[in-house]
Amino acid sequence: MTAGLARLTDELGLLYGGDYNPEQWDPAVWREDVALMREAGVNLVTVGVFSWSHLEPRPGEYRFGWLDEVLGLLHDAGIAVDLATPVASPPPWLGHRHPESLPTTADGTVLSYGSRNQFCPSSDAYRAAAATIAEQLTARYAGHPAVRMWHAGNEYGQVCFCDRCAERFRDWLRARYGTLDALNAAWATTVWSQEYGDWAEILPPRVAPYHRNPSQELDFRRFGSDLLLGLYREQKAVIRRHDPDRPVTTNLMGFFGGIDPHEWRADLDVIADDAYPDPASPDAPADAALVNHLARGLAGGGSWLRMEQAASAVSWREHNLTKSPVRLRTEVLQALAHGCDGALFFQWRQARSGPERFHSAMLPVAGADTAVHQGVRALGAELRALRGLVGEPVHRRVALLWDWTSWWAAGQVALPTARLDPLATLRAWHRELWRLGVVVDVVPADRDDVALDGYDLVLAPAQYVLDGAAAARLDAYVAGGGHLVWGPFGGVADGLSHLHAGRSPAPLRHVLGVSAEEWVPLPDGGSTVVWSDGRHGPGTASTLGERTRSDGADVLATYDDGPLAGCVAVAHHRHGEGRAWYVGADLAVCEDGSDGGLGGVLRAALDEAGVSSGAQAPGVETVWRGDALVAINHTDRPAALVLGAALATGPAAVRDAVARDGTPLADLLTGARHDASATLPLAPHDVVVLTTVRP
Ligand code: GLA
Ligand code: ZN
Repeated sequence: MTAGLARLTDELGLLYGGDYNPEQWDPAVWREDVALMREAGVNLVTVGVFSWSHLEPRPGEYRFGWLDEVLGLLHDAGIAVDLATPVASPPPWLGHRHPESLPTTADGTVLSYGSRNQFCPSSDAYRAAAATIAEQLTARYAGHPAVRMWHAGNEYGQVCFCDRCAERFRDWLRARYGTLDALNAAWATTVWSQEYGDWAEILPPRVAPYHRNPSQELDFRRFGSDLLLGLYREQKAVIRRHDPDRPVTTNLMGFFGGIDPHEWRADLDVIADDAYPDPASPDAPADAALVNHLARGLAGGGSWLRMEQAASAVSWREHNLTKSPVRLRTEVLQALAHGCDGALFFQWRQARSGPERFHSAMLPVAGADTAVHQGVRALGAELRALRGLVGEPVHRRVALLWDWTSWWAAGQVALPTARLDPLATLRAWHRELWRLGVVVDVVPADRDDVALDGYDLVLAPAQYVLDGAAAARLDAYVAGGGHLVWGPFGGVADGLSHLHAGRSPAPLRHVLGVSAEEWVPLPDGGSTVVWSDGRHGPGTASTLGERTRSDGADVLATYDDGPLAGCVAVAHHRHGEGRAWYVGADLAVCEDGSDGGLGGVLRAALDEAGVSSGAQAPGVETVWRGDALVAINHTDRPAALVLGAALATGPAAVRDAVARDGTPLADLLTGARHDASATLPLAPHDVVVLTTVRP
């Protein structure tokens, strides 16, 4: 994965550019585009994502002249191309001639063309047409010197419930379970008289009179992800026939539920991710960091690429706040700090027409004489100065566990509460970590290709599903000296949404030294939690707790009132060489303002694991990438950067150089030098990148 990206960045440096849709413009505009791209420092554009009808206006009738010309213009200007197979949006002729190629929703509605993404992933007509256009495109351009990367489809995420998808679902189930008996057992079909006597009876989870079978739903999610992965692989196979080695990828969407990216990562030569943080959200900086940590986790800790983001506003929210150029710069440099090796946008030139005409772009409809475009140019120039960051590893010692099976299963209906949103829990824990200045990798617990040993602390805020193998890995991690923090409603179910039998979390209770016998939604207003050591005032636990007892753990906090009065809320347990912390509910800060809430527990766990907090002033983020310190003021106010505190969290080699020789730090963008004990002013939304001065 990282190697695919390095092939581009070795040559081009940090990648800068975006989606380019020349089919929407006259040839005179292409020339202006290329000239402006050069001035803006653009070195890579994604071409052709939605150009199918323009390339193949009627089946088998091809029109490549315009694309020849565009690729030629770009190449002459030294701009590389990420060439897309245009299969995300089939032309009207496909749906018209093959109505069965259109997607069907769970309630049987067939979706029409006239928009985009209108295809059924199982449709033979769609797959054949998609393979053919990809074949034509790649046969023609595989040797083109402008083309440096391939982009199959766009944001794979289609779901379809049609009869053909039902057949494919059955094939997938046959391959997984072999026999109907095995499937009936896996889906526990004795509940509500659902036993299947014939494969032909099995359907996707279509709209039904009452709650669906949760195991069937979960398998349909997995099937859907695999089905789309199959489409991607078909495209990649066509590309590979003509181009054996340039990287092939598609764009992921961060925390998007439609596909499980951990199943996809091995097939992606570059981890490419689209992100559109909401400028209206006060938590956007922390949440954007979390998405970046996920991308880095998918890239195995290495570099990744932001394939799409907005230069200012999007047009698909209800109320689309703009983003100032200075804030855009903050977001781009934040991603760079987190291991991203470029900044690509949707899109280069703002559309004048179509549903995305109000979506911002690198070049606004108002033209180049605009703050947005001038900001884009300035950023392009800065990225050239930051080339040294390319490929450098991000310094991090903590893992945050997250996997799609748990997310899907914990989001099903008919749980003790519908108010415990696993993604909200993940974000809440991460916001505390972010506030404490801790950089994490987001990694799954349920894969054996992800090693936990390298992390000093592992946090599992929302690990609803835990199978035996994952539990064994966590057990071995803690027993071997690791530190684990375990969140509420974890280890409840297996990978088919069946509850584990026995006191909860059955597969891990010996590690936690705590066990529960009932999941207990807490009354509105929450329950009071009191700390045994009296160090903190009472806190509040909300949403859902567990009727627990200690099976050997030290009890740190208990519920003082409500349905769980007397039960363990927070505990600490020694297991082998390591330590496990149990946090049984959503914990809010204490009434007396002392830090007895979640932040306090996380801080104690970090201390115990020997991970120093890099916390600066609120809203100031610091990240070490290689030997460079990136410091970001996410606030609207001037702030200060305390270099000593930032250095304490940095790589040992940098700390040593500073301590030994009094090496100063140099600002990579301004050239200014700073003593390592200095405190630097940070303007609102400013970012500085500092590195040790090499003799
Ligand atoms: C997605 C798509 C793009 C565009 C943007 C708009 O990321 O991939 O084609 O529609 O959203 O934000
Ligand atoms: Zn279908």
